[in-house]
Amino acid sequence: MKVAIFGGTGLLGSDVKKLCDETYAVSALSSKDVDITDLGEVLEFMEKRQPQVVINCAAITDVDACEKDNDHAMRVNAIGPKNIAIACKEHSARMIHISTDYVFDGTKNEPYTEFDAPNPCNFYGRTKLEGERFVREILGNGVILRTAWVFGERRNHFVDYVVNGVNKGDEIIAVKDMVSSPTYSLDLAELIKLLIPSKECGVFHASNKGYCSRVEMVEEIIKIMHKPGKVKVVNQSQWKRDAKRPAFSALRNYHLGLIDKDIMPGWRDALKRYIRAKFGE
Ligand SMILES: NC(=O)c1ccc[n+]([C@@H]2O[C@H](COP(=O)([O-])OP(=O)(O)OC[C@H]3O[C@@H](n4cnc5c(N)ncnc54)[C@H](OP(=O)(O)O)[C@@H]3O)[C@@H](O)[C@H]2O)c1
Repeated sequence: MKVAIFGGTGLLGSDVKKLCDETYAVSALSSKDVDITDLGEVLEFMEKRQPQVVINCAAITDVDACEKDNDHAMRVNAIGPKNIAIACKEHSARMIHISTDYVFDGTKNEPYTEFDAPNPCNFYGRTKLEGERFVREILGNGVILRTAWVFGERRNHFVDYVVNGVNKGDEIIAVKDMVSSPTYSLDLAELIKLLIPSKECGVFHASNKGYCSRVEMVEEIIKIMHKPGKVKVVNQSQWKRDAKRPAFSALRNYHLGLIDKDIMPGWRDALKRYIRAKFGE
């Protein structure tokens, strides 16, 4: 079976490629290979390669950049998945699209399920929600996986900032009114691999189990490293950023649980495996 990964050079896409390479004929694409904002380029690729399954991990994931350049964010995060969905429909390919916990406004006090109404509080969340809508409108049988706070090998992110900071003896800034479900890209890639040959469709929450604030996440990393760490606890109003983050956007993998496919481990276990694998701590 042929599998194409848009965003195949990113944090998640590179792990999906790594896990799927042995089983499938995988094309992992960067923006230079195919620009998903250009329908002609997407259709031409699909015509040439004829993949049976398409996974869209491509996105503008810099939440603050999305607030500054709205059009670029909307083009990549909404028009991109729309173009891919059109091409998948044309070629009868299965589409697995990745979305985010930031489609929720963060006002609920318990983890969001797929049956809660989205209401983004920043522009990134808005663009991702429009991307979801296009996929649902165009394809009756698409899969949308919402995930959160992804960490993995490919590029730097919050976990790397904390580990490197602790190793250098720096003060770590941790925001207390940001709570979600940290997710290891390798665990999510395992789930995506499981869903590739299945007939499942619909919206699924897909994060590591449980949730924490950024402060609890920093404390857990320090515990795993067995090193002293200096932590400065702030709230969002003291941590000036262009985009507001939802205060509580933890996800519950409710739909996956209902169909007995929730294979996602807990976030603490995931964090430990990642830190051991990347830093040997
Ligand atoms: N990271 C998180 O914490 C997080 C949290 C929740 C949800 N998500 C979602 O998870 C998915 C994967 O995120 P990630 O963190 O793995 O992303 P990432 O590391 O930022 O990588 C983004 C990917 O998108 C590609 N891309 C950007 N613009 C493109 C364009 N115009 N045409 C084609 N490809 C383009 C990039 O290609 P180049 O290499 O060529 O730039 C890169 O491969 C996204 O849908 C994101 O919204 C991420």
